[in-house]
Amino acid sequence: MVNTDLYQKVIDANISFHGTLADDYKMCEPHFRPENVQKVEAKLLKLVKETNAKRLLDLGCGTGFIIDIAKKYVQEIHGIDVTQAMLDKVDKSGSAKIQTFKHDTGSFSVESGTYDIATAYSFLHHLYDIEPTLKTAYKALRKGGKFYVDLEPNFYLWEIINNLERNGGYDPIVMREIEMVKYKDEDFKKNFGLPKEIVDYAEYGKNVLGGFKEEEMKKLLLKIGFSKIDFFYYWYIGQGAIINDSTKDKDERFKNAEIVDELLQKALPLSKNLYKYIGFIATK
Ligand SMILES: C[S@@+](CC[C@H](N)C(=O)[O-])C[C@H]1O[C@@H](n2cnc3c(N)ncnc32)[C@H](O)[C@@H]1O
Repeated sequence: MVNTDLYQKVIDANISFHGTLADDYKMCEPHFRPENVQKVEAKLLKLVKETNAKRLLDLGCGTGFIIDIAKKYVQEIHGIDVTQAMLDKVDKSGSAKIQTFKHDTGSFSVESGTYDIATAYSFLHHLYDIEPTLKTAYKALRKGGKFYVDLEPNFYLWEIINNLERNGGYDPIVMREIEMVKYKDEDFKKNFGLPKEIVDYAEYGKNVLGGFKEEEMKKLLLKIGFSKIDFFYYWYIGQGAIINDSTKDKDERFKNAEIVDELLQKALPLSKNLYKYIGFIATK
């Protein structure tokens, strides 16, 4: 049963958190880096072609990360988000018809069966309960439509990191992840004056629930009615260190990172603890 007080508390924390970050959001968040935009664009373009997409619904659209990419390929885009300060940053220029709605995605009264693609990028872990929002995506899509979810915390890595000591004397690649996973709230406090409690509620799926398990997410998606759910794991521990190795030239660094990734991808599910993020594509 959904705890409605907590459901609303998490929404309020998100409005406070993202309202504070909105001005700096595009500059601070690594997913806006060109190499990531390129990867997301390739995934999205494939879905656009597969569904011959004309209409896309972006859940938790924020400042328009997905909208900026999708508007090159899709005629009509609707974005939903609870934080007005984030929605104010959405660039609606160009030929695509873009509309935004300030609303909770879980209770939004979405037009049924009219979208070819629904997206939720770096969003689900900001919810107290993901089920109502997954249902919104399902209802929105036409039969055969695709739901693309990305940049979500992988429970299996979060669990291990959460059990490590801050000063455990591990290699810097592990120490760095301990800081990023367990103590990120200290940065938000220092740089934006945000109290830990607001950060934890706003990042409920990460900081309180500790990320998502593929198996549980899949079960829920199947219960809602989705089929053909393909999960992907990416960004392994140490990938950043390989990519930023100043002793090698750029091509070599990226090539090395790719070689390690190929090996770890082959080793799945054994290597799933090493990947920081998960995502999936589900079909209605
Ligand atoms: C990390 S941001 C991601 C924004 C965008 N998708 C991106 O990738 O840059 C999460 C967004 O979810 C929004 N959000 C949080 N809870 C929400 C809810 N219940 N309904 C709609 N939007 C919500 C926040 O306001 C914020 O803009």
